[in-house]
This record gives sequence, structure tokens and C-alpha cells, in this order.
Amino acid sequence: MNRIQETIGRVVKHVMDRVTGAGLMQEENAPEGERYLNPGMPELIRQAAAESCVLLKNDGVLPLNKEDEVAVFGRCQLDWFYVGYGSGGDVHPAYRRNLMDGLRLAGARVNADMAERYRVWTGEKANAADEGWWGHWPYSHPEMPLDEALVRRAAQTAQTALVVIGRAAGEDRENTLTQGSYYLTELERDMLDAVTSVFSKTVVLFNTGSIMDMAWTEEYGDKLSALLLVWQGGMESGCAAADVLYGAVSPCGRLADTIARYYVDYPSAANFGGKEFNEYKEGVFVGYRYFEAKAPDCVLFPFGFGLSYTGFDAQPVSFAHRETGVEVALKITNTGTRPGKEVAQLWCHAPAEGLEKPLRVLAAFGKTRVLNPGESEIVKLSCTEKDFASFDEAAHCWVLEAGEYLFEANGRQIGSFRLYESKVLESCEPICIDSAALRERISVRLPAATGAAPAVGATLEDVRAGRVSLAAFIAALSPQELEALTRGEGMMNSPFGTPGNTGAFGGVIESLRKKGVRPLITSDGPAGLRLQRFTSLLPCGTALACTWNTALVEALHRKLGEEMGHYGIDVHLAPGMNLHRNPLCGRNFEYYAEDPLLSGKMAAAAVRGVQSTGHASCPKHFACNNQEARRNTNDSRVSERALRELYLRSFEICVKEAKPLTLMTSYNKVNGVWSHYHYDLVTTVLRGEWGWEGTVITDWWMQRSRSPEFPQLRDNAYRVRAGVDVLMPGDMSHTARSYRPDASLLETLGKPDGITRGELERTARRVLQLELALSPGAAD
Ligand code: BGC
Repeated sequence: MNRIQETIGRVVKHVMDRVTGAGLMQEENAPEGERYLNPGMPELIRQAAAESCVLLKNDGVLPLNKEDEVAVFGRCQLDWFYVGYGSGGDVHPAYRRNLMDGLRLAGARVNADMAERYRVWTGEKANAADEGWWGHWPYSHPEMPLDEALVRRAAQTAQTALVVIGRAAGEDRENTLTQGSYYLTELERDMLDAVTSVFSKTVVLFNTGSIMDMAWTEEYGDKLSALLLVWQGGMESGCAAADVLYGAVSPCGRLADTIARYYVDYPSAANFGGKEFNEYKEGVFVGYRYFEAKAPDCVLFPFGFGLSYTGFDAQPVSFAHRETGVEVALKITNTGTRPGKEVAQLWCHAPAEGLEKPLRVLAAFGKTRVLNPGESEIVKLSCTEKDFASFDEAAHCWVLEAGEYLFEANGRQIGSFRLYESKVLESCEPICIDSAALRERISVRLPAATGAAPAVGATLEDVRAGRVSLAAFIAALSPQELEALTRGEGMMNSPFGTPGNTGAFGGVIESLRKKGVRPLITSDGPAGLRLQRFTSLLPCGTALACTWNTALVEALHRKLGEEMGHYGIDVHLAPGMNLHRNPLCGRNFEYYAEDPLLSGKMAAAAVRGVQSTGHASCPKHFACNNQEARRNTNDSRVSERALRELYLRSFEICVKEAKPLTLMTSYNKVNGVWSHYHYDLVTTVLRGEWGWEGTVITDWWMQRSRSPEFPQLRDNAYRVRAGVDVLMPGDMSHTARSYRPDASLLETLGKPDGITRGELERTARRVLQLELALSPGAAD
């Protein structure tokens, strides 16, 4: 796109935003207000970013010695990617540390000529990093052409070269199989050629949020001494990278994804990017589940992999199989010469007979504290039987099939048990059923109105104080008030909240506010609070998953919860927890992993952290938002088994372990039905089977549609019947000042097959329960 087109696009979008209140362009809004810095947060971010670094290769060059000079190549040493773009980025921290900052602050000896060259070149207007605009962000920045003489000069004093390869992504579009996105550019290759032909020691740093092509690392072979994934580590990224490079932190990150040699090796490669739909033909064989069983030779670096500067031994201590699951203890000893942390991974090999299964699945994981050389720690791990069960589609149940269950931890067999008969763990209702059956299912389960005597004149404060029951308070609400509780205020950047918020729901009309129902303020997520205020910028989701450290992720999110309190934010629109089904998905950086257990546990930790401060998390996007292109219309066609074992499973783990107060549906359809109208996903499974009682909100601006089961119902009525409580940010024709009741919701109230008072009261109860659970707001 040329500059003129870009400028026109920018202006059009800007005008649209002003008119609709859509706020897509918030990234262009500079932060205002005090230069807030949450005490203790930078340290945690730095630790998390350092623990996320995955060392893929090291011939001994790392850790570097501070006495030796390094020459740093690649413009991202300065134009560092701290996070990706879109709603999952766009956080404004008080400061950020790029790699060069990190090296300097660490006291590293950096080749001054090279550093100056990059400083001057990136500072020239023609070369300035272009951040683009919504949906047109850079995948990378064009590299500075390198003159070989300059490289030679640097090599006269510098022993080692650091080469930074940077990649970014953002929502609403995919990464592409092109140079500068998934592949290296010519200039990056030229840079690698020039550097490796002169330096005998070259360390490549990957500053990215998701997996990119790495087949070229094999071509360069021994010319590359070390490969280190440093991810997009948030505001302290550069310092964290320096911590690892110079050995203040021994690398202890492990891959949350399989890195295949070629893109086409990924099992979803042939069924990704479809315009109308994607058949998830690979079924449960996603990530390592596929590669280990079906294509082991295609793996460059496996899931769970990562090197350290020290060595570890893991000895089985105990193994117990009980009714509830498996418990093991593992003694991990640092057998090397440097301090470091080790990740413990428990894997289960289920019997091969019966249903086709992956060779093994991750069943539990944990991480040691920093162990000094010779020091040991007993790590205890536990999992439920469901963590290694299969879903039998024909019988509609979770099952452990008869045979031997073998457990392995850190490469050692740790125990096993045998089942002589198949064991059904849980029988489930079929989901994604046909329209007639769904109509029947919904009809017989319609909720009744509370029937309580209306507490006329009561306020929510009376409910809080126990003077009035919630049922009686709800019974006194008018249909218009009940309607208003089913949708947001109508726009982003609610005047009720701190500027830059993503909208409000709850007390969005005057009469509700008079009854003490306040507007609940939302903010993106996941990389911090996306506000027009100074807030902390966290490492991206992939990076957090690579720490394999749930306690750290929880602590980080407890701090984030404090920031929510500071800025009066009630609901954090995070964590993002869709699985990395395909490496090109534009939002992979926001999400955690290819594996549902790792993803679910990370999300649970994030939710626990935020919610311990009295605010709400909102895990998203439920479910199967695994592609960004045409995300509003695309249909994810998934078998029930893959849904339950993978795409719903990660949410199930999070919901059951951490009880998020809210949850966000996705834009896409799942097996032909938009998620925000999906009764089976939201009501049958999430609430029915999992027993979750929180508030479901939609993603922002949803597709309108008519219910096939109840043709009288359309749009919001269709949604409320499905059990999706709140439309966000609300109908765009409503603003705080010009409220009109939503005709589509109330037009069928009380009519045959129409929306019922009981359904409206059900939604009201969930929204009000959320209000009651939250700490009182405190806008800045
Ligand atoms: C994204 C959500 C986000 C929302 C509000 C949508 O475009 O899909 O993840 O929370 O916008 O910004």
C-alpha cells in the first residue's frame, strides 16, 4: 500500500471512529494523566519475560561474558516489538526497555560503531518504524542494509554478534506466508550472511509473539552458535533479554508450541484461512499430539523443549493413582554448575487400543525455585483422570479405555496403572444438535420468572446489605430495565469510565443507576490495561505460557488487578486463551499455547490473580476463534471430540479452577452457529455441565441473525435465549444520551415462543450478581 492510500485509510477510519464511538484507533491516542508506575510490577514483568525466554540452541557461547564486546545487528535492537497490535497490545507503559537499553543497563560492552550506525539510521525519517494503523500494522520493519566492511570492523573488537529478528502481528488479520511475516526478508538474510561470514560466534534473538519459519537455522547450521526466543516481553523486555544473555537468569522457558520445519508440516495447514469455513480435519491431532504420532521427523523443536545453562536430573519419588487422579513427586537436582530453574512435565501415555489417540498428553507441570548447583527440590504434580481421558463421540462420554496408563516425567518413567475395563468418567449430552432437537431442549428448560414479591423502591445496596433478596429486587425491574441489563452502553470509551476503556454495561440507563446499579467498566487485555492512561505492559500470552510458571503468572495478574482498582476498571477482557491451532493466526501472540492443559492452567492463574483483588477477568474467545480473517462470519467446523478434548477443554480447566466472573464469546460460528447464539456451548456445556454461574458477554459488535429454532426471535432475543447475557459494547445506535429500548428483545415478550420474563430475569440476575461480587468502582 502506498503512503497516499494509507493516509486516506487512516482518515476514513478516524472519522468512522468518531461517528460510531468504535474506538478502533485508540492506538493513536497518546496516554494522558499521571505517569503511573505500579510499584513492584516492573520487577515481576522482568522476571516473567526472562523466564519466558526459550533457549533453542547453545554451543557454549551463552551466557556471554561482560568483559567481551558484542556487536548488535538488526534494527529491532531499538525498534523492539514489546507486544503485538490491536486490542491485545496498545498498552501505554510509563517507559519501555528495548534490547539496547537492556544491554546498556546491564553494563554490557556493546560495539559502539554498530550501535551508533543503527541509532542514526533508525532515527532518519525515511527509515522510521511505521506502526501502521488498525489491521494494517507492520509484520516487521525493513532491515538496515549492512555493509560488509562495517561488519568486519565491528568484528575487530567484538567477539560475538547478536542478531535480532523481529516479528509482530495483530488481530483482524493473519500472519502471511511471505517474506517479512512468516519468512525472513532478503535483507535479513543478507544481514545473517554478512554477520555469520565474519563472526565465528553469532547468537540469534527472536523478538516475536508467535512462531515464524526457522528452517533457515538448519541451513546456517554451526554458523549460528545460539538461538534464543525472547518473545515480546512487555515493558521490561530488553532488560529480561540481557538477564538471560549474561546469565543473571539461566534460561528456564519451555516451548508452548511445536516448531515444525515447514509451514506445510502443520496439520491444519491445508484447512486454515478458509473464507467461509474451516474443517478441523486434524481432529484432536493438533500440535505435539499430531507430530509425535504422525510426523516426528517434521519437528525442528518440540513442544516443551528448552535448554538451560545448567543441567538437571529428575528422579521419581512417588506415584499414586487414586479415584480422583494421579499424584506424583519428582526429585529434581541441579547437576550443573550454575543456578537455574527446571520445569517438571508429567506426561501420560494412554493405551493405544480403541479410540485413536495421541502417543501421550501433557497431564501436569510445575516449576522449581532457583536451584543452586547440587541443590534439589521435590516437585509434586497432580492431575485428574479427565486430564488424560478421551471423549468418545459415539457414546457421548469421557472415558478411560481399558489398558495400561503409563506416566513419564522429564524423560523418566514414573509409574503406571492398568484398567481391566473401560471407565466412563462422565456422560454428556450431545452438543451442536439439529434444530428440532435444540428447540425441544431449550423449550423444556426455559427458566421461570422468580415469582418473588417485587421490592418496589429497593436499591441494590439493600440487596448488598441483606435487607432485600436479589429475586425481589429483580422482580421490581421494568422490562426496559431488564433489557438494558442485557447490553452494554453502546460504545467504547464510556464517559462513566477512565478514558480509553472498552465500554460499560450494567447501570447503563438512569433508572437503573437510581436503583444503585452502577455502570461496570471494561478494559482490554490481555497485555495490561488498554487505556489512555499509563499502565503496565505485560509480556504477551505466548511468552507467559513459555514460563510454565503459574505462580508467577498469578502474581503478575494480582498486580494487574491493583491497576484495575487504581483506574476503576471492573472487568479485564482477558486472558485470551484460544489454542494455537495454526502458526499464522494473527492473535496467537495473545493466546498461550497449542495444548489445552498448559493454556487452561495459565488462564486459571491469570484469573486467580486478577480476581483476588476484587475485580473480574473475562477469558475469551469462547470458542474456536483460531483464525482472524473473516472472523465475524467464519465457521469453525469441529468434531465434538476435538471440541471437548481441545478447544473447550482449556476453558473448562480455567472455569473450574478459577471461576472467572465473566467470559466472552467469540466472533465466529462453531459448527454453523455463531458463538453468541450458541445455546449448546454456553448453556448446555458451560453452565450445565461445568456448573459455571458467571456472566457471559459477547465480543465487540456482533452479527445479527434470526433464530432457526424460534423464528420470532432475532438478534438480542436470540442471544438471550442462548444464555449469552450481555451484548457488547451494545447497540451502536444507543449512546448514553440517546437511549431507546431494544425492539428486537422486547417485541416478543410474553408472546407465543417469544422471549420470557424468566429469561430476562435470568440475565439480570447474572449481571447483578457480578455487580455484587465486585469491589466498588473508583474511576480516576
Ligand atoms: C476483540 C476482543 C476485544 C474487544 C474490545 C474485539 O475486537 O476481539 O478481544 O476485547 O475487541 O476491544
